[in-house]
Amino acid sequence: MTILLLGSGGREHALAWKMLQSPKCSKLFVAPGNAGTAQIATNCSLDILDFDSIKSLVLQEKVEMVVVGPEDPLVQGIYDFFKNDETLKNIPVIGPSKVGAQLEGSKEFAKEFLIRHHIPTAAYDSFTAATVEKGYEFLETLQPPYVLKADGLAAGKGVLIIQDLAEAKEELRNMLVHAKFGKASKKVVIEEFLDGIELSCFVLTDGKNYKMLPTAKDYKRIGEGDTGLNTGGMGAISPVPFADAILLEKIETRIVKPTIEGFQKDGIEYKGFVFIGLIIVKGEPIVIEYNVRMGDPETEVVIPRLKSDLVELFQAVADEKLDEVTLDIDERSATTIMVVSGGYPEDYEKGKVILGIEKVADSIVFHAGTKLENGQVVSNGGRVLAVTSFGENFQEAIKKSYQNIDKLHFDKMYFRKDIGKDLDNS
Ligand code: AMP
Ligand code: GLY
Repeated sequence: MTILLLGSGGREHALAWKMLQSPKCSKLFVAPGNAGTAQIATNCSLDILDFDSIKSLVLQEKVEMVVVGPEDPLVQGIYDFFKNDETLKNIPVIGPSKVGAQLEGSKEFAKEFLIRHHIPTAAYDSFTAATVEKGYEFLETLQPPYVLKADGLAAGKGVLIIQDLAEAKEELRNMLVHAKFGKASKKVVIEEFLDGIELSCFVLTDGKNYKMLPTAKDYKRIGEGDTGLNTGGMGAISPVPFADAILLEKIETRIVKPTIEGFQKDGIEYKGFVFIGLIIVKGEPIVIEYNVRMGDPETEVVIPRLKSDLVELFQAVADEKLDEVTLDIDERSATTIMVVSGGYPEDYEKGKVILGIEKVADSIVFHAGTKLENGQVVSNGGRVLAVTSFGENFQEAIKKSYQNIDKLHFDKMYFRKDIGKDLDNS
């Protein structure tokens, strides 16, 4: 089968790496891809929001399945674009329909879905510029810290957590009246703050049946000890040591099942990944967000632990036969450490020559922001490489990743040295 994968990060390199292990994948295109995907598949330089260009490529190369990595094309409706086109309608797109993608594209849509289907989530209300005064009043009824969420996609930056009431009111005004996050903050969800531990849960669904994938924990802040600015993610661990069978059972019955049943009740077509962000408060899982794709860098630990054939799973998703396949998971722990450009997540330089990748042994180097230039691999983004390792426990896996990172070099390279330290006693 000829497959097209959309995206260019570490997530896409990991998905490409895994799909190419399947005997069912005869040819893989990645658009636009990176230097890592260029080494194992065929990169195509195109804009993944330009659906007409995607259509031309799909028809020209006789692509038989499209797998979507990031959320943007999904929120823009790539699933529906294929479904409604005479020449494309029989080519499955792995991802939700445009309305399903609203679970990530609109925080308010997600909250209404959660409430409608009685899925545990933080109390909230939503406001616009016309109701900003009501927003101030709502803030006054809450205890600090205050959680303000831009309704729309804001590249992971749209959530503010603020201690001081006056500051929270000012930021609410900045978001609604002064378009702090552009169109994304025309509406703002104000949410009750949940004090607990975060956990990410991943599900693959065909809209009726589902498979729970391994859990993962991400490290979002740039600095050690979880300090500094938020990033796309600086490392990940799977499985999460505190996610025991009792907690997983609660997550499945109270959250995953009603989510999939919710798709059916609401008539939402959904054939892809659901990434559920949870906060565990006194042992009880509560949803803080849905994403309609896999996480990055969580994919770089979840997908390597999957022993089953990923293309077979995607085919089962397309055929709505996910109940007929079994999921085989590697019992070992996997960890990944992100190697980033100095300055990230603020300004950073690109084009730095990356040395030492060929010396890495017993870890997998997934490329994120890289490209090939005159035959050399150079940095091309904030997050540059994800170094994934296996171990009998996460400590062993992390040690391997750090030993291999020592062999890598580029100018101003940075990585967190404390991934997993917070879990040492769990
Ligand atoms: P989100 O984009 O909704 O995942 O939010 C980004 C981050 O904000 C999350 O990873 C949490 O650390 C934090 N967060 C979001 N919602 C809440 C909440 N209701 N209570 C506490 N922290 C939250
Ligand atoms: N690592 C978090 C995300 O992919 O949204």
